[in-house]
Amino acid sequence: MKHQKVLVLDFGGQYNQLIARRVRDLGVYAEVRPYTASLEEIKREQYIGIIFTGGPNSVYEDTSPRYSADILDIGVPVLGICYGAQLMTYMLSGKVEAADAREYGKTDISLDKNSVLFKNLPESTVCWMSHTDYISKIPDGFSVTARSETCPAAAMENADRKLYAVQFHPEVQHTIGGFEMLKAFLYDVCGAAGDWTMDSFTDESIAALKAQIGDKKVLCALSGGVDSSVAAVMIHKAVGKQLTCIFVDNGLLRKNEGDQVEEIFRNQFDITLIRVNAQERFLSKLAGVTEPEKKRKIIGEEFIRVFEDEAKKIGAVDFLVQGTIYPDVIESGAGDAAVIKSHHNVGGLPEHVDFKELVEPLRMLFKDEVRRAGIKLGIPEHLVWRQPFPGPGLAVRCLGEVREDKLAILREASAIFEEEVANAGLGREINQYFAALTNLRSVGVMGDARTYDYAVALRAVKTVDFMTADWARIPFDVLERASNRIVNEVPHVNRVLFDITSKPPATIEYE
Ligand code: XMP
Repeated sequence: MKHQKVLVLDFGGQYNQLIARRVRDLGVYAEVRPYTASLEEIKREQYIGIIFTGGPNSVYEDTSPRYSADILDIGVPVLGICYGAQLMTYMLSGKVEAADAREYGKTDISLDKNSVLFKNLPESTVCWMSHTDYISKIPDGFSVTARSETCPAAAMENADRKLYAVQFHPEVQHTIGGFEMLKAFLYDVCGAAGDWTMDSFTDESIAALKAQIGDKKVLCALSGGVDSSVAAVMIHKAVGKQLTCIFVDNGLLRKNEGDQVEEIFRNQFDITLIRVNAQERFLSKLAGVTEPEKKRKIIGEEFIRVFEDEAKKIGAVDFLVQGTIYPDVIESGAGDAAVIKSHHNVGGLPEHVDFKELVEPLRMLFKDEVRRAGIKLGIPEHLVWRQPFPGPGLAVRCLGEVREDKLAILREASAIFEEEVANAGLGREINQYFAALTNLRSVGVMGDARTYDYAVALRAVKTVDFMTADWARIPFDVLERASNRIVNEVPHVNRVLFDITSKPPATIEYE
């Protein structure tokens, strides 16, 4: 698999993965590397273009991330974005200064249509700015190609050297025409051929997996989530019955989820699937446990034990599948974010499974690409577009002790809410929505009788990266229908609450 590649050189900004996703959406493979990557490595990779990302620093601080100016002379076109634009200025002895106030948000700019980046755009547009410093003097040999009220050089370029810089963020949707600008950089400046598509990727991957696996045996832990499903189907297409999938039903899945997984993989794809009904094992380990981190740890560990027990029955295998996706392997330019919650399904590998090698067919893909590959492989849309679901499952939405009676309430209530959101056509624009069962019981009245029952919380968020999220403004009539149905159809619920906290300070899940 040899594709043209663009490097997104990470200086710590928040939109860096988004830049790479946009480039790939435009048909060009992009990878993100930290600014600490050596120039030798970068040269070796033969990138067709380099994008310097934004970042939170000021170029004149001692500790700011910088790069040797030699990178501008290796003959590869460079686009600097925000901090990346200021850095390019600094590297070439222009001048960057601190403005009196931070400029943040939508900003009007005027564009020079002679610039190749803006040739297909109107003379004025709106862009997304987020900066305090600005370029006060452009380097020699450059010309200004965009202006805003506060930025005399909102964009600049030296077309002969194929160096371009924009103070704003073309990768975010608020920049009208941003996609066009990136497209022009890739196709008109870097000479991209547009050879990155999910159709060609899946075909090439299946061929590569065939070559890698040969006639050997493969084992896959199937969760029913998008990543492991796409990985399993891809490998099945490559090596058929040499693949065995183990699906652990931990009793913490959504309504009907276990049966659906079985139906799709066993019946539709004819994949060899072992379903382990381990509900009892998990629930007995969780009995009486209320501390959130402890709950997570127990579930993570028990999963590994169950998986190992089943794997032992199968005996030695050659390969173990991991559904690692690209964001899991990116080395960040900004250091690791603090661990807020332990995610049991990333990083934890069973110790006692007899395998020789890992196979990671999705290692190169972003989530939206995994979905597109899934559709191409014939996986049903409802599974491919499934919302993210945490490894510890309903346990982190069932506050306090996890018990079957509480899980039964939660499964029904969440199914109703999910159905109402989907019926209202909001399923794709709201990134995650579900019900949680609070540990709060309160007084209500039903018919003539007093009730003392649970309160269900409805959670719905919009987010780009799940690191921050805003609560979704769901229309009242949708909430009303969900609330009426939940209290009428689900026994032991007499109150429905709607969660209006963003992340931060709340998290998306409850535990
Ligand atoms: P939080 O609750 O941390 O969730 O705001 C952010 C996103 O991560 C998902 N999540 C998990 N995903 N294993 C996962 O694979 C986990 O243990 C886990 N915990 C949270 C959560 O659903 C949301 O999409």
